[in-house]
Amino acid sequence: MIPRHDPEQISFASDNYSGAHPEVLAALAVANGGHQTSYGADAYTAALPELFAPLFGEGIEVYPVWNGTGANVVGLMSLTDRWSGVVCSDMAHINTDEGGAPERVGGLKLLAVPTPDGKLTPELVDRVAIAFEDEHRARPTVLSLTQSTELGTVYTPAEVTALAAHAHGLGMSVQMDGARIANAAASLGVPVRAFTRDAGVDVLSFGGTKNGMVFGEALVVLNPAVVRGVLYLRKLTTQLSSKTRFISAQLEALLTDDLWLRGATHANAMAARLAAAIEGLPGIELTAPVQANGVFPRLPRAVVEATQQRFGYYLWDESDPQRPVARWMCTFDTTEADVDAFAAAVRESARPS
Ligand SMILES: Cc1ncc(COP(=O)(O)O)c(C=O)c1O
Repeated sequence: MIPRHDPEQISFASDNYSGAHPEVLAALAVANGGHQTSYGADAYTAALPELFAPLFGEGIEVYPVWNGTGANVVGLMSLTDRWSGVVCSDMAHINTDEGGAPERVGGLKLLAVPTPDGKLTPELVDRVAIAFEDEHRARPTVLSLTQSTELGTVYTPAEVTALAAHAHGLGMSVQMDGARIANAAASLGVPVRAFTRDAGVDVLSFGGTKNGMVFGEALVVLNPAVVRGVLYLRKLTTQLSSKTRFISAQLEALLTDDLWLRGATHANAMAARLAAAIEGLPGIELTAPVQANGVFPRLPRAVVEATQQRFGYYLWDESDPQRPVARWMCTFDTTEADVDAFAAAVRESARPS
């Protein structure tokens, strides 16, 4: 086969733009060959609870799914009734970037709250988690947190614990969108349990695609007592792959020798390097603390015009067209040289003429 792209071309547009980690591709080769029972009844999928146990402990359930939207939708559906509402940040991926799947596929009402830094607080939750007995409103049933957030910020274990206690106190369960959970774990430097299961999270979407997998994520049920019908829901939402062994083998590769954490630690370090290199340049300011693998700087339009084409990134907020906010994402395969070349171009274009 002829290559149809330039393998040297990188960008800062999205952690989904990256390829797969070589250790993941090697795992796919190991899982290949011979026949295995389909639809998740294979040896690789059977091993997953044991492989995730060092992270989350015993008694969990692990369901491989195709993508992050599916992990979120199936997880939320397993926690809700037809009349349920889901409290989330207005920036939450479930609210902004899933094509309405939680509403259309899941049949749920999202109760979104503005969050300047992407993070909910108990006070913000209380703005929409109200009127539980009012038949005219969707009943708040689940609190959904994204970790790390869409704005590259990270909830501390204490913050998740307080939010989960608050939600549980209101009779709600807690779902976590962990599309970038590895970046949060790397940032916090604590066991992942500390801000998930031990903090009171019931159901977790464990990201893989942004962190070196070809595709696939895991829906991890941390509290099996609160979910219903996950197997059926995964199938009816079209998230059950007949060759599940190839998602499971990739997850195994991520968990082997902490590849998930190695990749995220590197991605975070590249984001920190980029932020440090551009901070303080004329007309440039960070709009959110850089705690994971994303950098969100406000930039003069001239800098965008000089750098966006070559380094590839999206604008996050253009409400001030002359000084938009950009979104720069780093991944497991972003190199120091990539970052330094990008920062040099930003520096050059930000120089007062
Ligand atoms: C916060 C968050 N959640 C979930 C997802 C997963 O989305 P997808 O369905 O594209 O895999 C993403 C991907 O961009 C994301 O950023």
